[in-house]
Amino acid sequence: MSLTQRPELRRTEILSFPRALPEPFVSRQIFYTMNGRNAIYHALKALGVQKGTTVLLPAFHCTALVDPVIAYGCSVKFYTVHRDLSLDMDEIAALAHSGASALLFVHFFGYPAPVHELAEIARSFSMKLVEDCTHTLTGTIDDQPVGTFGDAAIFSLRKILPVPDGGILLLNKSKKYLPVLKSPLTYHLRMAKWAFETNVEMSTKHDAAPQQALHTEKVEISASSRKGPASHEDPEFYAMWRNWSISKISKMILQRTDLEDVRQKRIDNFNRILTGFLDHEEVKLFSKDSMQLCPLGFPFTSDSPDRIDYQLRRLGIPAFSFGEDLHPRLDLRKFPDAKYLSEHLVLLPVHQNLSEANIAVMLKATKTIFQNSTLQV
Ligand SMILES: Cc1ncc(COP(=O)(O)O)c(C=O)c1O
Repeated sequence: MSLTQRPELRRTEILSFPRALPEPFVSRQIFYTMNGRNAIYHALKALGVQKGTTVLLPAFHCTALVDPVIAYGCSVKFYTVHRDLSLDMDEIAALAHSGASALLFVHFFGYPAPVHELAEIARSFSMKLVEDCTHTLTGTIDDQPVGTFGDAAIFSLRKILPVPDGGILLLNKSKKYLPVLKSPLTYHLRMAKWAFETNVEMSTKHDAAPQQALHTEKVEISASSRKGPASHEDPEFYAMWRNWSISKISKMILQRTDLEDVRQKRIDNFNRILTGFLDHEEVKLFSKDSMQLCPLGFPFTSDSPDRIDYQLRRLGIPAFSFGEDLHPRLDLRKFPDAKYLSEHLVLLPVHQNLSEANIAVMLKATKTIFQNSTLQV
């Protein structure tokens, strides 16, 4: 098995019988969108968030989280995410006090956000609460499934599964929402073609979201996604595709995937990396605890002036980043910790197809990079 950034599609994920999705996907109103950013747009709409009001967003983010909110017609205010990924709860309360209609929070990389405190703030200030589960997929916090702590939850399937597209919007409390989510037949066909022909290429390549490249509408890959850094996201939000649905092929793969098995394998890989780094002080860990939620990757920071993810990729290790490009509306001078994370955070893949040997190679390469940089000092 080669070292890839993303899981590859297996025969079983195509040929097996469909299985029931786990909770919370069965007991809630569920909508399958083309991606996570479209799910954010529809979350605001479904929750009846008034256009022109303010939505509170984390200062550390990908721009694909911010743009749908602006495209929907809201203004955005950012709250501090500290270097250790904790949130400034006092700041959130103060921002809520000055007037906001909704609060969106993220379980960064699979680390659970302080869901109870956030829900309490949202309740006290009558804000709608959107739980962004795009960095995870399944798991529980205090025995309650992730995705059930807000009024709505959003997911991004292609971050965790070998699918070309797909987002989910779950509505926990709201009244009936009846959007018409539909993609043209040509889109479904192109996604299916991709899944069968080029998934290996996709899992070894960085970024260049297939959903964008495979549309008939000729869309230029944006300058920011072309310039080199590998990340999980194509940062654009295309309003013209906001009502497009997940492709049939991605839904089919989702229905044939054992999500609990995926979670467990990713957690096992996460823990292997954690154990390997415990005694390595140049690698700054966010936590020494094991994961409960399905993780996006293994994140760490380093104070090295050179980007460790670039160096790892040069060695053939498919490290990636998150939040490397922050939204232009964010005033970086006010959010030094978001800037720090944006410049110093690295993720190693932990996906379900990686073997122990793959993990050992990644650990060795990372340690070698740090050793060499120490020698050069
Ligand atoms: C925290 C977060 N929310 C939302 C999104 C949007 O998800 P998608 O890429 O599926 O549109 C992303 C990634 O781009 C993300 O990292």
